[in-house]
Amino acid sequence: MTTALSKPKQETVSVNSTNSPQINAASLDSLSPNQQLLPLTALVNSHDRLEIGGCDVVDLVQQYGSPLYILDEVSLRTACQQYRDAFAKHYQGQSQVLYASKAWSCLAVCAIVGSEGLGIDVVSAGEILTALRAGVSPSLIYFHGNNKSLEELTYALESGCTVVVDNWHELKTLESLALEQTSKPRIMLRLTPGIECHTHEYIQTGHIDSKFGFDPNEIDAVFAFLSKSSLNCVGIHAHIGSQIFELQPHQDIGGVMVQWFKLAGEKYGLKFSELNIGGGLGIRYVESDDPPSIEEWVKTVSAGVTDAFVAEGLALPKLLCEPGRSLIGSTCVTAYTIGGSKTVPDIRTYITVDGGMSDNPRPITYQSKYRAVVANHMSASLSQTVTIAGKHCESGDILIKDIQLPVTNPGDILVVFGTGAYNYSMASNYNRLPKAAAVVVEGGESSLIVKRETREDLLRQDCLPERLRQ
Ligand code: LLP
Repeated sequence: MTTALSKPKQETVSVNSTNSPQINAASLDSLSPNQQLLPLTALVNSHDRLEIGGCDVVDLVQQYGSPLYILDEVSLRTACQQYRDAFAKHYQGQSQVLYASKAWSCLAVCAIVGSEGLGIDVVSAGEILTALRAGVSPSLIYFHGNNKSLEELTYALESGCTVVVDNWHELKTLESLALEQTSKPRIMLRLTPGIECHTHEYIQTGHIDSKFGFDPNEIDAVFAFLSKSSLNCVGIHAHIGSQIFELQPHQDIGGVMVQWFKLAGEKYGLKFSELNIGGGLGIRYVESDDPPSIEEWVKTVSAGVTDAFVAEGLALPKLLCEPGRSLIGSTCVTAYTIGGSKTVPDIRTYITVDGGMSDNPRPITYQSKYRAVVANHMSASLSQTVTIAGKHCESGDILIKDIQLPVTNPGDILVVFGTGAYNYSMASNYNRLPKAAAVVVEGGESSLIVKRETREDLLRQDCLPERLRQ
């Protein structure tokens, strides 16, 4: 469904913050685009409402209901271009950016990033199917995961995807599957580089005690196996974690990986051409977050890889990376309708919204922080400190603790920023809530990209055995 909405006059962005009494256009504009809390097209329109992609957010909620994920196409395309342009500028060899679709896998998102020339990193048959149906070439689909099933591996090979092999069991399974293939299956190896970074322990992956990838002490045995196998191993991969602000760990990857590249060629005659250094660049969720820009990150990893390969006298590899959050995180907001409130004297006021941990499980899982505004009163003064509670039967279902907002009333629209990554993709039906809808907005038009689930949808997979029927 596509709806044309009239585009009101552009005015100054004025967005409220919880840290400082007011964060306004001037302070936001001075930040580089990828460090924005807001989608690039966000502005306050002449009705004092938040507008994104030329669409009035309050009108969007009226049309599509809430909770509603609102994806700003311009922001997503811009982030893709920033990655591409930065590699063109800072890396002399070939490069390929893959979108880590675990951040948000759906047809429209894969189609947009695919049309920007990005490939896709997938971690399940479902994500492979989504990328393929979105029109992404299988030659640009890389399949990850630490326990891929036989069925998934078969599907990936038949589809022509590259498999990023995680462990011995998978390697041997692929070797036996290779015998049935007409051409040698294209694979890469995931190795644990032993690089630690500062992020939530659940999303660290590069340290030695990780469930992902081959341990460095297995490398000789793996290379020896590959040198006699029917698999076409094109290179190696490492991913060290997510929501990382430091540049040093990503700078160091090249130095670790080049040794393995060298070993593979010199001792085992394996001709590697691709090096995938994973994703992980963090984004700004709150004002105190200070991630490097996409360009700084690309410049750093490019220099790290280039220096390491030149020092070893090796040709530059095709450099792959697979960002998720830094591509899509800031491009989307979630709009909720405010319901009731509860004031606990001298302690806090809870304001409840019509979603919560089912559409955004990150606060309860990682204690993640978010910013929000009341989209129908953008310039109202911030007169109260409140806690935004979700509607789930769980005390921990708190979306934002202690945020400054204007006085709110039931029916007001609360918009939470930075919900593009790991929100829809980690959404659940907890408490049997239907999953929220998503729209993409661009140039004053909104288009549905994920339909809202209905109550009937919730029963779609249920079976009631005859003997249990009342
Ligand atoms: N490549 C691999 C192999 C990964 O495991 C991941 C993320 C990425 C790339 C993309 O990382 P990014 O650029 O998005 O940081 N649910 C957590 C994040 C889990 C990340 C899992 N792997 C969260 O909500 O913070």
